Amino acid sequence: MEILRIKGGNKISGEVEVSGSKNAALPQFAAALLSDQETILENVPDLSDIKFMGEILSHVGADVSNIGPGTWKIHPANIQPNAPYELVRKMRASICLLGPLVARLKKAKVPMPGGCVIGHRPIDLHLHALGEMGATITLNQGVVEVDGSKLISKNIFIGGRHGSTVTGTANAIMAAVLTPGQTTLDGAACEPEIVDLCKMLGKMGAKISGAGSHLISIEGVENLNGCNHRVIPDRIEAATYIMAAAITRGEIRVQGVQPQHLGAFSKVMNESGVALEVKENNLLEVKMSPDGLSPFEIITLPYPGFPTDLQAQACALACTLPGLSILTERVYPSRFMHIPELLRMGAEVSLEGANAIVRGGKMLNGAPVMASDLRASAALILAGLAAEGETWVHRIYHLDRGYELFDQKLIKLGAEVERLPEFALPPAFRSPIE
Ligand code: EPU
Repeated sequence: MEILRIKGGNKISGEVEVSGSKNAALPQFAAALLSDQETILENVPDLSDIKFMGEILSHVGADVSNIGPGTWKIHPANIQPNAPYELVRKMRASICLLGPLVARLKKAKVPMPGGCVIGHRPIDLHLHALGEMGATITLNQGVVEVDGSKLISKNIFIGGRHGSTVTGTANAIMAAVLTPGQTTLDGAACEPEIVDLCKMLGKMGAKISGAGSHLISIEGVENLNGCNHRVIPDRIEAATYIMAAAITRGEIRVQGVQPQHLGAFSKVMNESGVALEVKENNLLEVKMSPDGLSPFEIITLPYPGFPTDLQAQACALACTLPGLSILTERVYPSRFMHIPELLRMGAEVSLEGANAIVRGGKMLNGAPVMASDLRASAALILAGLAAEGETWVHRIYHLDRGYELFDQKLIKLGAEVERLPEFALPPAFRSPIE
């Protein structure tokens, strides 16, 4: 296993380019299965999650190849409906296969995705939408088996207790695009990743209106063709670099970001004293207020609210802001695995239900810490950038699932970060907790 060693204290500066969005690309790989023709996806980030998805598509019979930097060719001429447990259990986003397989083959067998460290992640809303469309769903030895031979169009309310579901909306849209008649999804997710999926499906010949709102209508068509599509930039990655600048009080330029995708995050940053100035050609200049940065209150919500995928990084930033910050998690109420690790670095954070109360301003101390998931990894690395001394972040395979060349990009911005094999550490600093 590899670790990252970070020597804190450098203000980062310079320019960083944002990669393609993981969470847009993953359902788009699945969407390619809706046609028997070839689809080319560009600006796909080089991540382990993308490779898993490629392997899953190969397993169901598609011809999948990475034909150049960020470019993937998917040719699903002949596919079969069984997704492999060994790969599906590694990545929840593989549930996105359900919609396309049911739409194209009228049946699907996809293992239930397993437990998840960021909290309870059910798929009842995905299944509710398919059930409303007339699919028969059974759970057989942990595998969701869907018979979609009698799919019908329907008006469906797809919202849930925690608001809209992103991949559930993607699945319902993908199931409906080849189903005769008009399906409407009320309470649909309006994340930019859903809008981008609908854009891709439109190029394939699907008839979808309302993407980006909570009410999406889909007029089923008989067949879809392949397409050529460029994945949108990763808004979560862009925001993570903005917070990396803020936590070191550095000033950077972020290239390739679509500023309108940052939603409530921009407002929180601006109010805290992190000025985000939009320049030409999707360039964002990140500057710090000369009066210093202030603590903030955030509540994570579906888009355009503050993203749950930025809560951990915001928590690390709050640790460096003098005063009291409050971070409330409304999407995954127990997504706070980063907090015990931040405490190891001297942070003062208390957890009350789904609220993290951060008393910030005290200098963080470098320490060996353990990444529990993708966004927690980024948070701990950010904390390391601001800490006194060295921080060793263990289990960075989580990071490699969702941030392309994170350490390389930080090094280019002037951070002191080094990737090492775990055995290179003195025994006292190897995995802190097993
Ligand atoms: N929910 C249900 N029932 C369902 C589906 C979801 O109750 O059937 C609940 C969830 O438990 C959660 C809320 O609805 O409380 C939102 O979950 P959602 O379905 O939107 O999450 P997802 O589609 O599984 C995507 C991202 C996550 C991101 C969430 C929320 C992908 C591949 N994953 O997951 O990304 O946290 O939306 O924005 O798009 C990450 O990138 O680190 C990551 C975890």
